[in-house]
Amino acid sequence: MPLDVNTCRNLLQQLATAPRQISRRDPHTHSLESQTLDYVVATERDREREREMAKDKTAEYGNGAGDEVIEVNPKPQKGLTSKVIDFVEKLVVKFMYDSSQPHHYLAGNFAPVHETPPTKDLHVIGHLPECLNGEFVRVGPNPKFGPVAGYHWFDGDGMIHGLRIKDGKATYVSRYVKTSRLKQEEFFGGSKFMKIGDLKGIFGLLMVNMQMLRTKLKVLDVTYGYGTGNTALIYHHGKLLALSEADKPYAIKVLEDGDLQTLGFLDYDKRLKHSFTAHPKVDPYTGEMFTFGYAHEPPYITYRVISKDGFMHDPVPITVPAPIMMHDFAITENYAIFMDLPLYFRPKEMVKESKFIFSFDETKKARFGVLHRYAKNEAQIRWFELPNCFIFHNGAPTSFLIINV
Ligand SMILES: [Fe+2]
Repeated sequence: MPLDVNTCRNLLQQLATAPRQISRRDPHTHSLESQTLDYVVATERDREREREMAKDKTAEYGNGAGDEVIEVNPKPQKGLTSKVIDFVEKLVVKFMYDSSQPHHYLAGNFAPVHETPPTKDLHVIGHLPECLNGEFVRVGPNPKFGPVAGYHWFDGDGMIHGLRIKDGKATYVSRYVKTSRLKQEEFFGGSKFMKIGDLKGIFGLLMVNMQMLRTKLKVLDVTYGYGTGNTALIYHHGKLLALSEADKPYAIKVLEDGDLQTLGFLDYDKRLKHSFTAHPKVDPYTGEMFTFGYAHEPPYITYRVISKDGFMHDPVPITVPAPIMMHDFAITENYAIFMDLPLYFRPKEMVKESKFIFSFDETKKARFGVLHRYAKNEAQIRWFELPNCFIFHNGAPTSFLIINV
């Protein structure tokens, strides 16, 4: 269904406001809504069945239910194999990488900073009310180790900066998100994981192979993923989560003195087996969290609903024609809206045409897919074509939060 530009521009806003005016208790005046709830949406009985099945699996695995934190304890290996791969990588970089290229995102205002333990009694200009008690936290990329070759802004290790306010005083702290990736690079004392900044041309292909070789020969351990936790923060079911879209959520504990401790990651009782967007949405009315992951293999998009008590419901695969980058999505009271936009994952073009691994295709259409947010499958999704475009965020990104400690 093609739409004109103005209609497209207003579509998200219309969807965000109109459903709130529809009462689920009034099927006579809103029969379409009623039918949707009756035939498409997961019912409470479906939800209960999912929980019962999950309980059986929980008993089988011997784990707790819901969003229990998994300790991240990778086992990388030093030794001859590791040294040989390092040597090959050095040769590849020496002969195939132009080291004269400046790293803009490692200089000036973007230059990495060290961790800062809680620093108390900051100078306050003005007055902090004594009743104010909480911590402002924000996350961003901040590489602990310099790159062996390329570097992209998105490559840095996640660092959380916290401003603790209590009893009229302020404390500052900054801590890395202790991901599996960072723990392993600390073990080696240098950069070992592939970087987005390397993914261009034949050089990119070779650097991908370095990572594959390190993984296959157990130099690196990717059991716990290899994300950075550097993109966004969200608070759900009593947990502060650091997110990057190629990984699972990392749980962060805020200590009384403001310090920030990485506890581990969430796999929702082994129900999360795909990546997890950095921009999930929490409905403040229901306490539910809505999320998705995108992948290079079908299903390219997988949608999930997480109950307010941390239970992750069954996956809903969303069909799009090719692997894309889908960084964000939207949720209204009744719908989930997916952005199928023409920024494609094209590794062949990266090699043949020396392009970045994701390339924007001006010849393709963009689409919004609108699906009931409790849909059990994608059967009722409706797609709306847009003019060719790419949208990174549909609203304010959540790289910062203010939490009550
Ligand atoms: Fe973002």
